[in-house]
Amino acid sequence: MTRWNNGLDEVERVSPDITDETNALPARYFTDPDVHEMEKDAVFGQYWVYAGHANCIPDSGDYFTRTIGDREIIVLRNHDGEVQAFYNVCAHRGSAIVEETPMTDPGNARRIQCPYHLWTYDLDGDLASTPRSFEEAPLNPDLEDEDVPELDAEENSLMEVHSDRIGPFVFVNFADDPMPLAEQAGRLETELESLPLEEYQLARRIVSEVECNWKVFGGNYSECDHCQANHQDWVENLELLESELEVDDYHWVLHYKHKEDVDDEMRIHDEHEAQFHYFWPNFAVNMYGTADGYGTYIIDPIDEGRFQLVADYYFRESELTEEEEQFVRTSRQLQEEDFELVERQQRGLQSGAIAQAQLGPNEHTVHRLHLLAQEAYETYDA
Ligand code: FES
Ligand SMILES: [Fe+2]
Repeated sequence: MTRWNNGLDEVERVSPDITDETNALPARYFTDPDVHEMEKDAVFGQYWVYAGHANCIPDSGDYFTRTIGDREIIVLRNHDGEVQAFYNVCAHRGSAIVEETPMTDPGNARRIQCPYHLWTYDLDGDLASTPRSFEEAPLNPDLEDEDVPELDAEENSLMEVHSDRIGPFVFVNFADDPMPLAEQAGRLETELESLPLEEYQLARRIVSEVECNWKVFGGNYSECDHCQANHQDWVENLELLESELEVDDYHWVLHYKHKEDVDDEMRIHDEHEAQFHYFWPNFAVNMYGTADGYGTYIIDPIDEGRFQLVADYYFRESELTEEEEQFVRTSRQLQEEDFELVERQQRGLQSGAIAQAQLGPNEHTVHRLHLLAQEAYETYDA
């Protein structure tokens, strides 16, 4: 049931059951700056978070950076061709090492060198060399050159971040002892690994800053009860009543059937439908019914009332055909329609009038998102 902020109702925890009356996350979790700070560890520091696409760093020494919460990392391909992730933090005195480098414009380095005092690391993170001033001590009257200890390459290596992959998708996890990625991904892993995702190239990236909490957008992405009223062009070709929402532990998928059969060559997956996969906490994979390609969304919080959406589109070739251009324009239109909805919802949540919202029976995917958030906060508190 809806709980207004009338000073009478107690806000309660999300109940595990969608039919229960307290089935939504209390509104303050979408508007409170302290919650945003807490989520940097409780959510983005504990779960597997998407870092980027391995195809964008095909050669040894290719790298890009990514900021997740307050943590900056370097994702790179080492000499053995493996993808590894490291904190972008020098082992000497903690300087950030490389400048921000987007996945769409990766850098390449034979070694990673910190610009501050030129400590240099191998592509596997081990310390490779330091300038002479770290081997001799001419400026230190208390120390003879021969007493300067040699720096151990491994002990002074970069700090590695747990990383793992599903096909070409690279995920990282900052927890000390994370659950396996396969466990968090559940069925998503099997589904994605059955598709030739690595045969497709990044062709377009659209980045938007949106005025709402990241979970508001996540919730909107996860249901289609708003589609009839708000995406009229898009729903025209869909059998909305035939769509299905499937929920796994940390992953849910919306299947939309197309009214008319689309040419089989038109898509990467076999079903005559579009599939929208949401993967807790902030990653989505879009399998289109009407384009031979797929897309990903990264839903990165900026603060409690803003997030950045990174929409990446993968096609057979990185050069778009006219049809693919048109497809991306249509997809962008959908995004903009959704941005209006979520920004309007955020205004309502920020007004302070509502204490706890009411989810409908088809919003069980949204319920899952809220429940996972609540569980993350509680595990972190405990
Ligand atoms: S902080 Fe990186 S070399 Fe000194
Ligand atoms: Fe929508």
